[in-house]
Amino acid sequence: MKAGFFQFNPVFGNIEANTEHVVNRLHDEKFDLMVLPELFNTGYQFITHDEVAGLSEDIPGGFTTSALAGLSRSKSCYIVAGLAEKAPGKYFNSAVITGPDGFIGSYRKTHLFFEEKLWFSPGDTGFHVWDTDIGKIGVMICFDWFFPESARVLGLMGAEVIAHPSNLVMPHCPNGMPLRCLENSVYAITANRTGAENRHQDNRGFNYIGASQITGTGGEILYRASEEEEEIKVIGIDPSTARNKDLNRFNNIFRDRRPRLYNQLTKRFS
Ligand code: ACM
Repeated sequence: MKAGFFQFNPVFGNIEANTEHVVNRLHDEKFDLMVLPELFNTGYQFITHDEVAGLSEDIPGGFTTSALAGLSRSKSCYIVAGLAEKAPGKYFNSAVITGPDGFIGSYRKTHLFFEEKLWFSPGDTGFHVWDTDIGKIGVMICFDWFFPESARVLGLMGAEVIAHPSNLVMPHCPNGMPLRCLENSVYAITANRTGAENRHQDNRGFNYIGASQITGTGGEILYRASEEEEEIKVIGIDPSTARNKDLNRFNNIFRDRRPRLYNQLTKRFS
């Protein structure tokens, strides 16, 4: 599988320009799976409810999902991308997956970060793994990585590759993903954005850390991008490696789990 990410600096609020930039830049690239950042088409720092309402789109009927589905069809490839979703009475920080036959499905971010809680409802889809002809692709969005349950659930559902659209602002994720991949024997493609947003024009802005990353099933950092440059990177990975959960002759990382002793994990913390 030729898989990778497109790291760039979206312009806040300009869905058409951001989507056109992606479509133009990916036009001549060769890949099977491309991961774009979280909220790649709108930018991240919403400051009013009206903005959220105006920049959220129907999935799958909206402009951005249609454009990505068209790109996937024309290149016979898979794309995972983050965008704001308009649903009846609610908005979600979502991601879509498109493929050679167009729209495949969507995921709504489970763990909202910081002021996202002002704008979006917590995701209600749960985690999904799509069994495609290039491999089993699971999706989580940015801060979901901080909760080991996200990658664990995707791993247990059979994900071979975790597509991870992101808008990272804290520094920990690039060095954290090797553990998520090692403990589940999965690949991950973290597509982050670059640049900064300071839409209140005070010190409440965000600096995005770049450093998009492709992480291997043994926790290897197969590729890490720069912190500031726009970059498309595609490498060859073998998803079948992720089917082997044997650590050695005695240990299988999934069969050795002791779920009966993990009851706390399914209870709300108060
Ligand atoms: C994040 O979840 N965008 C940090």
